[in-house]
Amino acid sequence: MSVADVERIVKTRYAAGAQKLSPDLCCPVDYDPRYLEVIPDEVLERDYGCGDPSRHLESGETVLDLGSGCGKICFIASQVVGPTGRVIGVDMTTEMLDVARRNEPIVADRLGYTNIEFRRGRIQDLALDLDQLDALLAAHPVTNSEDLLAAEAMADELRRDQPMIPSGSIDVVVSNCVLNLVEHAHREKLFAEIFRVLKKGGRAVISDIVSDEPVPLHLQRDPEFWSGCISGALTESGFLEAFESVGFHGLRILERQTEPWKTVEGIEFRSLTLEAFKGKQGPCLERNQAVIYRGPFKRVLDDDDHELERGKRYAVCDKTFQLYQREPYAGSFEFVAPRRPIALADAEPFACDRARRRDPRETKGEDYNATTEPIGACGPGDCC
Ligand SMILES: C[S@@+](CC[C@H](N)C(=O)[O-])C[C@H]1O[C@@H](n2cnc3c(N)ncnc32)[C@H](O)[C@@H]1O
Repeated sequence: MSVADVERIVKTRYAAGAQKLSPDLCCPVDYDPRYLEVIPDEVLERDYGCGDPSRHLESGETVLDLGSGCGKICFIASQVVGPTGRVIGVDMTTEMLDVARRNEPIVADRLGYTNIEFRRGRIQDLALDLDQLDALLAAHPVTNSEDLLAAEAMADELRRDQPMIPSGSIDVVVSNCVLNLVEHAHREKLFAEIFRVLKKGGRAVISDIVSDEPVPLHLQRDPEFWSGCISGALTESGFLEAFESVGFHGLRILERQTEPWKTVEGIEFRSLTLEAFKGKQGPCLERNQAVIYRGPFKRVLDDDDHELERGKRYAVCDKTFQLYQREPYAGSFEFVAPRRPIALADAEPFACDRARRRDPRETKGEDYNATTEPIGACGPGDCC
């Protein structure tokens, strides 16, 4: 199947699924019932998700839902992030967007606020708003090759000057059972786009179908299996590697279905929800800081290939020192700041290519010679 075939097949199947309930596309998920009360049945019935990334959102966040379908995850996310947050749903299928858009004012009315918008676009090309492109094409129809080249230039201008989702604008990218539907040739671009739109420190929380073994070519060429979220599944480990390859760090499996959702030719397909963080990129500066991995593992390897043994002090750059204090590492490390702080402006470059132990004298200073209490001066209740 060509890229165009895959897109056409997926659109046709989900256009039909928007108009009439398609039970074979459903993978049962328990959503928090508190958030379902305001969502109309038309949306709830057309649940084609496989997990619930909305459980991992926080109040006030800006959320982008890739392949938002009839809008269920957006309507739940809207309540989790609250009126100070914002939710953007992107889908390429007009019929899905029609359902989501006509239910948005109903949900807003029931909630008493509105913070959701639905945009038409392809999730592997999040800068291009297809409604905007259609408006331009209506005024400049394509009838020959010159028109086509001009249309491509217009699309590039839209991406550059009015990106649908600007770079670094999103706190959390979520998606529910969609990434597997994107043609393999566009996967690299897809993961790079997720990374591009996130703010530094932002995260992706993605539920998708994964397989326990690679999917053979004859299954990948089957349109029913592809559009049914089977053939395009990455393997469990391939799914994580795809995020790592574009620069995400701190990946965590948040949920993994124990029993397979479907089994085809002995290959098990199940839902997995993954969290991945953006923000380890940037200069490495020496501020004489150290970290101690608390355990329980004897040693760990981070996403910059630093191997840290439990209980030992390691020199880290300021970026890593800050990074380890936040999720998903919070609670895993002890932090040793230098006795004499080094201002950021005075910090020298730090060689981050390998883990290096840090002698306590480096953080305290060679001349440090303090004695806090005279020996033998312990009184009742003292800590000695
Ligand atoms: C399995 S449904 C999931 C819908 C929704 N996330 C849910 O939980 O019900 C897949 C959705 O992804 C959309 N989709 C598939 N490929 C896409 C792409 N490349 N760009 C944008 N949307 C896409 C389809 O139109 C469809 O609405």
